Amino acid sequence: MKEAKDMMKKSTHSLKYKTRKPKKHLVKEESVPFKPNHYSDVKLLQRERKVKNRIEKEFIRGGTKYQVIHHSPDKPVDLSKWSNRIICGDSESVLKEIPSNSIDIIITSPPYNFGLDYDSDHKNDAVKWEDYFVKLNQVWTECARVLKTGGRFCVNIQPLFSDYIPTHHMVSKQLLDLGLLWKGEILWEKNNYNCKYTAWGSWCSPSMPYLKYTWEFVEIFCKGSHKKFGSSNKIDIRGDEFKKWVYAKWVIAPERNMKEFGHPAMFRN
Ligand SMILES: C[S@@+](CC[C@H](N)C(=O)[O-])C[C@H]1O[C@@H](n2cnc3c(N)ncnc32)[C@H](O)[C@@H]1O
Repeated sequence: MKEAKDMMKKSTHSLKYKTRKPKKHLVKEESVPFKPNHYSDVKLLQRERKVKNRIEKEFIRGGTKYQVIHHSPDKPVDLSKWSNRIICGDSESVLKEIPSNSIDIIITSPPYNFGLDYDSDHKNDAVKWEDYFVKLNQVWTECARVLKTGGRFCVNIQPLFSDYIPTHHMVSKQLLDLGLLWKGEILWEKNNYNCKYTAWGSWCSPSMPYLKYTWEFVEIFCKGSHKKFGSSNKIDIRGDEFKKWVYAKWVIAPERNMKEFGHPAMFRN
């Protein structure tokens, strides 16, 4: 209880600090390097503060915002064998060789089990859903192990809607069960209007309409703490970049002439 009260004190303190009017030059000058705690949308922030006793209520609800499983940063690990290299192989076995608590961020887009022809996949991306989730869980277990405390895990996933398997929810549940903290979900709008409108035979019929998705999902998790440990003097993001990138909807369309470039997964920003 004392710990919770101390945390509340700390948070209230930072709240006061954050709602202070920002210095004029920080509001106008977009090219000023981003400094944590300088928040330019003050009006917006005040609007969000309509809830009274917000911090106490957060503690009653018991979310994971203030959760810190390990307080001290991980010990540095020698990664010279791995850094600046592209390693090709089965992710599960390659990950097994990587030291624990050594990776800052994992970004992955696993096969979706759509039945696509991937060069190295002899099962043609079509396995029983149970086997698919077992394999993913084995890879996730290794990912969770190698991540540093506060490290981020981003998984781009697209359910196979015609099989009615909510893959993004199921993967999220697997990651929660491994003890990772859910940080958020990015809606990746691909403006993909080629996707089909309806199950065959039900055109203009309410019997089995097919919902049309032009977007994919990116689920984001962290290990042990929502806060990423590291030295603040290494932060080089600008205010305008920060504002743009924390917006949880991305609009990035696929490259139209992928064949020309000979790559199957290219996108235009
Ligand atoms: C949805 S695609 C993602 C493509 C990726 N974004 C890119 O730019 O190449 C899934 C990829 O995972 C690869 N893959 C399938 N099984 C794998 C495994 N066990 N280990 C590593 N990669 C695998 C497939 O060959 C395919 O390239």
